[in-house]
Amino acid sequence: MAKLDLSKAKYAKLKKFIDENQGETCGLMPVLHQAQEIFGCIPIEVQKFISEELNVSVAEIYGVVTFYSRFSTEPVGEYVIGVCLGTACYVKGAQKIIDDIGSKLNIKPEQTTKDGKFTLTATRCIGACGLAPVITINDDVYGRLTPDQIPEILSKYTDELEGE
Ligand code: FES
Repeated sequence: MAKLDLSKAKYAKLKKFIDENQGETCGLMPVLHQAQEIFGCIPIEVQKFISEELNVSVAEIYGVVTFYSRFSTEPVGEYVIGVCLGTACYVKGAQKIIDDIGSKLNIKPEQTTKDGKFTLTATRCIGACGLAPVITINDDVYGRLTPDQIPEILSKYTDELEGE
């Protein structure tokens, strides 16, 4: 799993954002976006902090964090691989794709590789059924996938990381 860093400096950064935007558009969503960016996820500790700062219940914050897929409560990898398991993708072999990616990375769906590079997750239909089966890696979309393309696609991201 990717490392979780809840340092004081990160809390201070979030507090600064809240203070600077107070009284303007500082609703819950912008603060959650900021928290996700700063911490890489929004665990319960951070939800409690936001709850006190904004005077919003933890239950409400938890509801929002778990509803939107862009927020996560646990650290995710540098690259999030979303495999669509919607109907169109499923009938075109998405299960085999997710299984193959999982065995190549040695993780199960909803897990992150030990080096923190990849998180594998199953998604619902992303509206690109004409390209089924479809996967996303962060903002990149790959369609009409066959399992033999997986190693090459993944190597693009590992090479990118190694070259940094
Ligand atoms: S079912 Fe996969 S994109 Fe629609």
